[in-house]
Amino acid sequence: MTKKLFTLAGLCSLVLSAVAQTLSVQTPRTTLLLSATQGEKAKIIYYGSRLEGSDLETAARVELTQDAYPVYGMNCPVEAALSVQHPDGNCSLDLVVENATQREGAGCTITTIELKDKLYPFHVSLVYKAWQDADVIEMWSEISHQEKKPVRLVQYASAYLPVRRGQVWVSHLSGSWANEGQLTQEPLTPGMLVIKNKDGVRNSHTDHAEIMLSLDGQPQENSGRTIGAALCYGGNFKLRLETHDDEFHHLFAGINEDNSAYLLEKGETFVTPALALTFSAEGLSGSSRNFHRWARSHKLANADVERKILLNSWEGVYFDINQEGMEQMMSDIASMGGELFVMDDGWFGGKYKRKTDNAALGDWVVDEEKLPKGIQGLIDAAHQRGIKFGIWIEPEMANTTSELFEKHPDWVIQAPGRDLVLGRGGTQVVLDLANPAVQDFIFQIVDDLMTNYPAIDYIKWDANMAIMNHGSHYLPAQKQSHLHIAYHRGFEQICQRIRAKYPKLTIQACASGGGRANYGILPYFDEFWVSDNTDALQRVYMQWGTSYFFPAIAMASHISAAPNHQTSRVIPLKYRIDVAMSGRLGMEIQPKNMTDQEKELCRKAIAQYKQIRPIVQQGNIYRLLSPYDKQGAASLMYVSDSKDRAVFYWWKTEQFVNQHLARIPMSGLDPDKRYRITELNRIDPEALPFEGATFTGAYLMSNGLDLPYAHKLPYHYDYASRVLLIEEVK
Ligand code: GLA
Repeated sequence: MTKKLFTLAGLCSLVLSAVAQTLSVQTPRTTLLLSATQGEKAKIIYYGSRLEGSDLETAARVELTQDAYPVYGMNCPVEAALSVQHPDGNCSLDLVVENATQREGAGCTITTIELKDKLYPFHVSLVYKAWQDADVIEMWSEISHQEKKPVRLVQYASAYLPVRRGQVWVSHLSGSWANEGQLTQEPLTPGMLVIKNKDGVRNSHTDHAEIMLSLDGQPQENSGRTIGAALCYGGNFKLRLETHDDEFHHLFAGINEDNSAYLLEKGETFVTPALALTFSAEGLSGSSRNFHRWARSHKLANADVERKILLNSWEGVYFDINQEGMEQMMSDIASMGGELFVMDDGWFGGKYKRKTDNAALGDWVVDEEKLPKGIQGLIDAAHQRGIKFGIWIEPEMANTTSELFEKHPDWVIQAPGRDLVLGRGGTQVVLDLANPAVQDFIFQIVDDLMTNYPAIDYIKWDANMAIMNHGSHYLPAQKQSHLHIAYHRGFEQICQRIRAKYPKLTIQACASGGGRANYGILPYFDEFWVSDNTDALQRVYMQWGTSYFFPAIAMASHISAAPNHQTSRVIPLKYRIDVAMSGRLGMEIQPKNMTDQEKELCRKAIAQYKQIRPIVQQGNIYRLLSPYDKQGAASLMYVSDSKDRAVFYWWKTEQFVNQHLARIPMSGLDPDKRYRITELNRIDPEALPFEGATFTGAYLMSNGLDLPYAHKLPYHYDYASRVLLIEEVK
């Protein structure tokens, strides 16, 4: 049979003819090779560094192929991406290529392979969207049919990727509330590794929907071939990494089908969430840089806008909101150079007041006893101090002690005929976002706030409960199993309406801390709260893991009190600042309890952060020394695109006297450029020996700099940390 190789060069849209076709899906530095021959199974031939010219054709001829989208029923012993039951009871699928197209989209190429079952009018389109300004390919499936009755979707992964066996290691994140983003790295071994979530509302407190695969043995930050995979979904997910008796590890990623069988109507199309794939020959950090670039270009709301430095009221006053207290916090953050004040939980309630966490969710009216001048009074107070104002809401939830619940008891998620399962405060319930009336209500919460107070600059959108009992008053009996999927479709619809009307509003995704760090929701949110745990030492670990997939601009990171409210650990302010300054800097503290000296340190840090903000928020990450390697310290840096400016961070992670720590070669600089070093947030009376000195990039990248293990202050042996600004000298 003749084989033709199609790349997109020079073609606007191409429908491929009825011969054996090889489709090359290209990004600037990666290639995915597929084969789509009419009447045969679609195959995946290759995924890795970019192939050109004759290598493309040779690879297509000699490489071991796998089904591009394995289905269940004609080869039952292996894992499948898709498994269905037809209305006549038949549980098998046999999909072959009907058509394949490649076309150009905005900044991307889109390759579609249309598959059809040999026996049934059942169709699957495999879609591959290759970004031309980022080395990321998004892939998903679209499932439809023309059978007489609904088809039951039993398993419906977004995508599948075979990975050649060898010394393959997986890096993945797990954790729990207040300990999110913990990194695990392990070799892939026979059997199946399942990484999944079943929370229903949030999906990144525990397992994360993103992984990295290191193909050349134990994962290295700055060398080795690495595949990154991120499922762009905000709900229950499942990643399967199966290793049986063949030459490949098999990665399947998609919505978690547990308790979510889906009845697909005739003519309906089920679009699975995208799996974003990247490949880098520059190690884990290389794949992170690819994800971050793609996120900033395509997946994060307002990613081109610098994030404001804020004070959030939660750890400062908790529910104890009042006009005077808010004004004092505004004055304090303004005096330290901050740009935004965010009033957290506790400001609302009509008949039921939000004095603690057991009442008033759902009743989004200002508590006039606490705030007699209302929201406008707070906005005016913020503006008088030259800063912006933001506000907390938790719109997907209600308390049973609320006027909302009294009026609409059928709006909450509840198993039919069963008691409610209650969450936070013993009264919290989740609203049924499958219900369009609930969607309207939630949109209205934001729309009312923004219509009445257009100067609101920032919304902290929280979500503090899982789906605890399975049931919807809205969904029909035969579609109760759609609850989890319908919830997230409803959520996305609300987000789309909000963003259509308020594209520039800054919205933080908070979900009991870091429950919503995922690429399903980020197109609608500007950032996420990494964790309710603000302890700087634990944050080094959490932010390290989270940075594998998410850029610093999206990672809210706040300076908080000592002793820390979650861990009671006493960490010097300098270290707390240096850790917070590696993400989107903010404060989460009662400033009136700070000394003048502490406020001055923060004022200087905020001024310096403004200098480095473009490098941190838009730069390229190079992780250098992992806290998980237990070498006593952790270090990373951000480098600007043109390599003319960089920021280097170093934090001690163990506090032992006379422990010898490694010197850390830098990365990502231009070897031929000369750079001047300036220490930021300096507390030592004497400057470091290399302060103001210049070095070539080559020197810094082969040797690094010798950092003292302690600060020259009597109380500061522990928790040494350094932030260095590295600027090109022309
Ligand atoms: C959650 C959030 C916190 C705070 C509280 C308010 O726990 O993660 O940051 O907003 O809710 O109740």
